Amino acid sequence: MTNESFRVGLTRDLLTGAGEPSFGTGALDVLNQTPGISWEFIPEAVAAITPELTARYDAIYVNTPRVGADAFGSEAPRVKIIARHGVGYDSVDVPAMTARGVLVTNTPAAVRRPVATMAITFVLALAQKLMTKDKLTRTGRWNDRNDHMGQGLTGKTLGLVGAGSIGLETLRMARAFDMRMLAADPFGNADVVQAAGGTLVGLDELLAQSDFVVVACLLNDDTHHLVNAERLAKMKRSAYLINVARGPIVDESALVAALRAGEIAGAGLDVFEQEPVDPSNPLLTMEQVIVTPHSLCWTDECFDAIAHSGLGAIVDMSARRRPQYVVNRDVLADERVRDWFDPG
Ligand SMILES: NC(=O)c1ccc[n+]([C@@H]2O[C@H](COP(=O)([O-])OP(=O)(O)OC[C@H]3O[C@@H](n4cnc5c(N)ncnc54)[C@H](O)[C@@H]3O)[C@@H](O)[C@H]2O)c1
Repeated sequence: MTNESFRVGLTRDLLTGAGEPSFGTGALDVLNQTPGISWEFIPEAVAAITPELTARYDAIYVNTPRVGADAFGSEAPRVKIIARHGVGYDSVDVPAMTARGVLVTNTPAAVRRPVATMAITFVLALAQKLMTKDKLTRTGRWNDRNDHMGQGLTGKTLGLVGAGSIGLETLRMARAFDMRMLAADPFGNADVVQAAGGTLVGLDELLAQSDFVVVACLLNDDTHHLVNAERLAKMKRSAYLINVARGPIVDESALVAALRAGEIAGAGLDVFEQEPVDPSNPLLTMEQVIVTPHSLCWTDECFDAIAHSGLGAIVDMSARRRPQYVVNRDVLADERVRDWFDPG
């Protein structure tokens, strides 16, 4: 059964500069082919979802705008689902959505391989000194290449902070390099980590032994500044820190200090404490640091898969089917949600 007037709004930050969907047009067929759905890119560019928008749409497909408790007015909202274009949902106040009977969905399967590929891209680029050698070649410093020897990976240690979907995929993909592989995750399963080719250890052991530390855990109150000055000091001076997860997991001032003091060799960062990154951020001037604008994993393949999954969740909701990836599963017990799925 479909609802004849199921209205979907997609946030405008999903459009390219030329006004085209950044995820291609293939995934929009998912909406176009579903009777009863009408959709549009939300006319307003917003930094946060407003009560006006949760009153206008049944479903909001959201990329970067924040979705907080202030997304609602005093009336019961029309919105039934906030579908995140991606896996992270720290921009969404999940308890506030649950309190309003609104489902929050994400797309974990779609980003697993692309983000793991990004982590390995950083490992390879740092180990091979890719950016430095690019610069030598462009600036007439060809003969300086002896001074910029890279690191072979065979027998080196790769440490994943977080053995979830992306952490485990990174281990599986990195197997080809014959590295020793470790993972630290208080909720990790040693057998699952082992099946991916790694060994589950404590964070301190991982930091002390790894040549490449990859941050791939969730951002929450416990992991905020998990990688701080004290933990950076436990790393080898020759080691690299890579963050593909969320900026605030790493204390950026402590990272800058550790890099300046030579306590670690360098870093690969896709994410920052403040995004967009402040142009005066000292990390941007450090030769031993590779930076990307929270988008190294963005490819046609990645965005098409994300949009198929995320918009598919909205189609499921419109057809009164439970979407596969519901972040706030407790909301499914809410009477308003039960009535939606089973109107009797
Ligand atoms: N840069 C990007 O474009 C991008 C894209 C997608 C996801 N991400 C981020 O990647 C991260 C991982 O995503 P995922 O899909 O693997 O999530 P996931 O939920 O599958 O895995 C996260 C893991 O973090 C672990 N964890 C929680 N607290 C921890 C702690 N104190 N120490 C170590 N591990 C801890 C959890 O137990 C879990 O296994 C998230 O932060 C997500 O936001 C970034």
